[in-house]
Amino acid sequence: MSRRSIGEPIPRVDAPAKVAGQARYAAEFAPRGVAHAVIVQSSIAHGRLAHIDLGYAAEEPGVLGILTFTNAPRLPYREHRASPDPECGERLHVLQDAMVHFFGQPVALVIAETREQAEHAAQRLRIQCSVLPAELDVSFERGVTPGSCRGACSEFSSDTSRGDADAAFESSAARTEHVYSIARQNHHPLEPHATVASWDDDRLTLWTKSQFVGGERDEIAAIFGLPPDNVHVISPFVGGAFGSALRTWPHVTLAAMAAHVVRRPVSIILDRRQMSALTGSRPESRQRVALGASREGRLAAIVHEAVHETSRYEEYVEDMIDVSTYLYACPNVRTRYRIAPRDVSTPTHMRAPGEASGVFALECAMDELAVEVGIDPIELRLRNEPERDESSGLPFSSRSIRECYAAGAERFGWARRDPQPRSMREGELLIGFGVASSTYPAFFSTNARARVRLRSDGSVEVEVASSDMGPGTSTSIAQVAAEIVGVGVDRVQVRLGDSRLPPAPSHGGSQTLASVGTAVKAACDAACAEIRKLGGEGRSFPDVLRRLDRASIEATGSSDANQPSKEFSRHAFGAVFAEVAVDSELCEVRVRRAVGAYAAGRIVNPRLARSQCIGGMVGGIGMALMEETILDERDGRIVTGTLAEYLVPVNLDVRDLDVIFVAERDPHVNPLGVKGVGEIALVGMAPAIANAVFHATGRRLRRLPIRLDQLL
Ligand code: MOS
Repeated sequence: MSRRSIGEPIPRVDAPAKVAGQARYAAEFAPRGVAHAVIVQSSIAHGRLAHIDLGYAAEEPGVLGILTFTNAPRLPYREHRASPDPECGERLHVLQDAMVHFFGQPVALVIAETREQAEHAAQRLRIQCSVLPAELDVSFERGVTPGSCRGACSEFSSDTSRGDADAAFESSAARTEHVYSIARQNHHPLEPHATVASWDDDRLTLWTKSQFVGGERDEIAAIFGLPPDNVHVISPFVGGAFGSALRTWPHVTLAAMAAHVVRRPVSIILDRRQMSALTGSRPESRQRVALGASREGRLAAIVHEAVHETSRYEEYVEDMIDVSTYLYACPNVRTRYRIAPRDVSTPTHMRAPGEASGVFALECAMDELAVEVGIDPIELRLRNEPERDESSGLPFSSRSIRECYAAGAERFGWARRDPQPRSMREGELLIGFGVASSTYPAFFSTNARARVRLRSDGSVEVEVASSDMGPGTSTSIAQVAAEIVGVGVDRVQVRLGDSRLPPAPSHGGSQTLASVGTAVKAACDAACAEIRKLGGEGRSFPDVLRRLDRASIEATGSSDANQPSKEFSRHAFGAVFAEVAVDSELCEVRVRRAVGAYAAGRIVNPRLARSQCIGGMVGGIGMALMEETILDERDGRIVTGTLAEYLVPVNLDVRDLDVIFVAERDPHVNPLGVKGVGEIALVGMAPAIANAVFHATGRRLRRLPIRLDQLL
């Protein structure tokens, strides 16, 4: 029996449940007797709590308890770091002392019978604090080298160099050197962050929005001093997260703490404003990029320096500058990376962390260089195609960026572009075409396990603890299982999002299908081998099982035994094209259409992969033109904390988005040959739009989001 499933545009297997409202999200779990808690937040960026006056809050109807640093249980907060956590620094110990580290920090928790009662009582608290000077600036001057936890003489270096980039830059015939800035951005998934906690003696169950149930289990176990097996984390459906649900944030701890104190299950649902302060953000950043080239556009020097915010208590880092070491051929490259500690909550991974910001700076700089040397931006990039990854010296496992440029340019109609800025008009509209490269590492985790059960009725069950925050993981791994076992996808049932299932890596970094899919493949291969052993070649598994009178067999698999070769540099690549129309008087920018051409290895499900890429491109529109978490420079207050103030693309902002998958067979990248399409789609979009805005208007804007007041 053999059927094609991999490569088929199968609709989401969980679509009916989602559409019918049967898929349950974290906030919808309501164990018997559940109480509701509301977080009260600080209104200063830095200081010390002096006194919290409960006033009459405790006597308000329905109030079950109020926790502050004075009466909250002291928690062990044992050492533990999950992979998404910063390596240096210490996570916020919530309600454990009087210090305030950022605006919006939880300083009290009100627990009541209903959420409304808790909210009402929360407004009655009077909080007095002594204010300390707050540092809220992000500048190159203030940047420090990350790695404080490793000591001054550590091996860790965020500065890399090959050749002599500064000298090569100085002697280059063509040069461009500029600073590029990106505002802080928040993830703002549709589903709010929420946790429902319930204790049974010393065993804790958490229904929570999570991209990493295993990480949350271990972290909460460490915080409360429990054996990890005593913590059960359940997160069957996630309504978007974009990185905001990779870490364990304070509200998860607070829900568990509150449930312990009031001896009832407790639910905490964050509102939009709270999500802005309490679930991480893409850090505000500045980057300086200097490119030196010959008059023919051959790169001689790349200098890429970056600084971005972190909190004072943790060093959040991301790979913002790495891209400059491998995207182009260049003998002289120097990178420098710094973080600026600030009185804010710790930033986190968000939508292609690192590359999204770094590629914006590099790809805008490449566009500036193209203008400088008078060479078409695509041609400039093709002239600088490397033979191999020049940072490691390794060959790329595959790199089809030329094909991406060719296919994308053709579909987009790049040939119609008049290179002269401000030359393409339609009435009052200035039209601009922009292009940028995209790239993202093809990550692979060896920590994925999967269990598969073949049943005599012909059905297949796959179990793995991975989350599915929306890309369609349950569907794509059902396809992998269906193809290997030889059944239709409708016969496969996938169970995800439960820490008691076989462990999976965090559902992030575009690594899930490569890693979890490989474990599922290994489990299915093992099950099929077992069936052959039991029943000989050529017999279907239901047949074999029925003959043996067995209801089912089970097998497990792991990604560990299938590590990709270390002999290759593994990345996905793409080319993104955008057309903008800028009103010549009002300066309003519209993305009229965009084409993303991606080479991401094997595409397991073109329908879902396309949907992923459209989503990433929409995120790129937001990053380029709208999204901006603004802090009040006086006190760190988040000014744009709700979706009334924090702009995201809506239907009218999203016009014609087209996705091309360039065929790519990569036998080296991992056993499935997939590179992941989560993040790659977003990466090139913002620079393509910024470059299109320059082409339309002749104005080079080097700060995101590009706002019309900057264009006026
Ligand atoms: Mo993604 S930022 O790795 O969830």
